[in-house]
Amino acid sequence: MADSFANWLALREPADLSARDAASQSLSELQLFLRAMCHGADGARSVRVLDLATGTGSNFRYLASRLGRNQEWLLVDHNPVLLTEALVLIAAWGTAHNYRVSPEGSRIVLEADRSVISAETRCLDLGALEASRDIFAGRHLVTASALLDLVSDRWLRSLAAHCRENNATALFSLSYNGTSQCTPVEPEDRLILQLFNRHQAQDKGLGGPAAGPDAVNCAQRAFVTVGYELRRRQSDWLLRPEQRGLQRQLIDGWADAAIEVAPEAGEMIRSWLLRRLEHIRVGRSHVVVGHDDLLAWPSSSAVGPFERFHPLTRNPFCQTFARGDETL
Ligand SMILES: C[S@@+](CC[C@H](N)C(=O)[O-])C[C@H]1O[C@@H](n2cnc3c(N)ncnc32)[C@H](O)[C@@H]1O
Repeated sequence: MADSFANWLALREPADLSARDAASQSLSELQLFLRAMCHGADGARSVRVLDLATGTGSNFRYLASRLGRNQEWLLVDHNPVLLTEALVLIAAWGTAHNYRVSPEGSRIVLEADRSVISAETRCLDLGALEASRDIFAGRHLVTASALLDLVSDRWLRSLAAHCRENNATALFSLSYNGTSQCTPVEPEDRLILQLFNRHQAQDKGLGGPAAGPDAVNCAQRAFVTVGYELRRRQSDWLLRPEQRGLQRQLIDGWADAAIEVAPEAGEMIRSWLLRRLEHIRVGRSHVVVGHDDLLAWPSSSAVGPFERFHPLTRNPFCQTFARGDETL
C-alpha cells in the first residue's frame, strides 16, 4: 500500500510542478515575505520551514530551490515508508543540484558553497493537530501540498491558530477544489464528479469529516479569523493525452470512490470507466483537475515587510522575484 502510494506520488509530481509554476505569483509574494521576515523580524540566518504531510517530499523539492540559501526543514508524515523514500529522493535531488549530501539518520544536510539546507523527517500522526503544537514553534513558513482537502474544518482552525501563535507565513498548494473537466465528454461525467466529491468529504483521519472541495474556503475563513491576509491562485492540473499513466490512475481512483459511495450504481460507473480508459488508451483524453494555492500571512506584517524592509518594492508583483541572487 505504502509502495503503491509512493508510486502514485511519483506519478503526480511532474503534474504538480507544472500546476505550481502556473500559480507562481504566490511564490514571488512568499519570497518577499520570507526575505523580509528573515532580514528583519527575528534576525534568523535560515528560513525555518514546516512541511505537513510531506509524503515523499515533493513540496520540499519544489520550494527548496526557490526559498533562498539557508533553510531548516521539518518534514512530518504518519507514514514511515514515505518518509524513508523522501530522504532518498531528497538526496538524489541534492546531488542533481550540485549539493554535497550528508545523510544523518532521519536528517539530511545539503551543502553548497553559499548555502546549507537541512531536512529532518518526523513520523507523527497529525490527526489531532492540537496535540502537535511543538512542531510549529519558531517556524517562518508552514506549508503543505495536496493536503487541505483531506482535513476537517476544525483541523484548519487549529492550523490557523498554530500559525498565528508563531506569526508564520503559510503556503498551501494544490488543494483539490471539487472541479474537473474531461474531454471528450461522457454523459455520466458530472454524476461521477458529484459522487467523488461526496467521497472526498468523508473522514480521512484528520480531525473529522474532511472539508473536501470546500477546504480552501474553510482555510480562508480560518486564517481571516486569526487576522491573516490572503492570496488565492488557481493551480489546476492540465493533463495531456500522453500523460496516460497519471490519467489512468486518476480515473480509476474516481471510479473506485464513486462505487464506494453509490454501490448500487456500480454497473453505470464501470461502463463509464471503460469508455474513459479507452479515450486514454487511444490518446485523445484531456483532463483538467481544479486546485487552488493559498498564501496567508499575519496582517500586522501585511504592509510591514514590504514597506519596512523593501521600500522600493511596494508592489509585490515587481521585479524582486527576478533578483534570485539575494539571500534570505
Ligand atoms: C496526497 S498526499 C500528499 C503528499 C505530499 N505533500 C505531496 O504533495 O506529494 C497526502 C499525505 O498525507 C499524509 N497523511 C494522511 N493522513 C495523515 C495523518 N493523520 N498524519 C500525518 N500524515 C498524514 C499521507 O501519508 C500522505 O503522504
